[in-house]
Amino acid sequence: IDIKVLRGATGGVTTIDPGYKNTGSCESAITFLDGEKGILRYRGYSIEELAEKADFLEVAYLLIFGELPTKEQLEKFDKDIKEESHVDEDMKKILDGFPKSAHPMGVLSSLTSALIAFNPGSVDVDSEEAMYNAIVKIMGKFPVLAAWTMRKRKSLPLDYGDNSLGYVENLCKMMFSRPNKAYEANSIVNDALDKLLILHADHEQNCSTSTVRIVGSSHAGLFASLSAGISALWGPLHGGANQAVIEMLEAIKADGGDTAKYIAKAKDKEDPFRLMGFGHRVYKNFDPRAKIIKKSAEEVLGDLGIEDPVLDIAKGLASVALEDEYFVKRKLYPNVDFYSGIIYRALGIPTEMFTVMFALGRLPGWIAQWREMRLRKEPIGRPRQIYVGENYREFVDLEKR
Ligand code: ACO
Repeated sequence: IDIKVLRGATGGVTTIDPGYKNTGSCESAITFLDGEKGILRYRGYSIEELAEKADFLEVAYLLIFGELPTKEQLEKFDKDIKEESHVDEDMKKILDGFPKSAHPMGVLSSLTSALIAFNPGSVDVDSEEAMYNAIVKIMGKFPVLAAWTMRKRKSLPLDYGDNSLGYVENLCKMMFSRPNKAYEANSIVNDALDKLLILHADHEQNCSTSTVRIVGSSHAGLFASLSAGISALWGPLHGGANQAVIEMLEAIKADGGDTAKYIAKAKDKEDPFRLMGFGHRVYKNFDPRAKIIKKSAEEVLGDLGIEDPVLDIAKGLASVALEDEYFVKRKLYPNVDFYSGIIYRALGIPTEMFTVMFALGRLPGWIAQWREMRLRKEPIGRPRQIYVGENYREFVDLEKR
């Protein structure tokens, strides 16, 4: 274990654990995962069963409030979210100000932060009721903002959705509808997206969730915490990996499909290249989400009648890596993002939007973790350090340096 225990300047003992590989930051009752056995459960329910039997809104309710909703509870949650799904017209001016080429994650993070100015009451959440109001507000507005980032990139007029549709169906409409054309829902697309969102909905104390909790611990408010979480998710070592995987698979395809060459590059310690979508901080056996997504990718491509050579490259790469001593020894397996991009692509979602799709799925998990942190009255997050810089030095005037 790469952990140092040192006596700090104030006399207390400080542990240094780079990347917090062995350091817990909180107690949590939301998500259980066993990385050795490849188990993932939300509030005790297995991810496999939830992906099969529940829909995304039920899972969101489960994560946030701790129990599967009754029919009445689910209807109320749905209604409250829909009532909050309008976005202030002036928010469009902010969206208009971004260049078309802006990365959707930067736009989404900024718009989420901008929501605070339009909903100042959402910051002070000293009662459970105020907390609930902030939660349904963001659950309602976030899909609108996410869909708008995609439409902006495609130069399409904004779509305000249709509240007679279900949560994921409405998201699909807001993303995929075309001007002057009646929108026709596609159940294959809706079901695939529903499943992907469920699989991404929470994953205990990962980088973005820890960010949400630590920002929230200063009582900065839910939307500010989420905006920070979106920025954390953007990185290619975290949620940004889904975009990086497709870009890598495309590059391999363009280079003649020589998977062995890229496996060798990933193993070469002098080469910064890593096999994107491979490896996980916690899963050291397999990522249960990757198993479900691989199967789903094959089904979706089959149902939509799409033949994507990139799926074959992905399968080829995975089968070689899973036999290779380098990957076996380090327990590197395909993670959730190895196959998710293939589905997003088949659904017609642009590559730069993949991490936004991840954020849409992770939203209830972030909210649940933030709510838990506030209800437990956790103290402000403030890690310590071991100072390794200069001792006291006298100031040197500019002309004497
Ligand atoms: N390709 C090649 N080698 C790898 C890879 C990879 N994808 N991942 C890890 N390794 C190697 C490292 O070089 C290291 O080798 P060493 O022991 O010889 O030095 C060893 O495996 C351990 O890797 P660490 O980076 O120490 O593992 P860590 O837990 O810090 O990182 C991470 C996990 C960031 C996910 C890493 O595996 C990675 O960069 N993967 C690719 C990016 C990716 O897919 N990220 C998505 C993660 S899932 C998610 O966030 C939704």
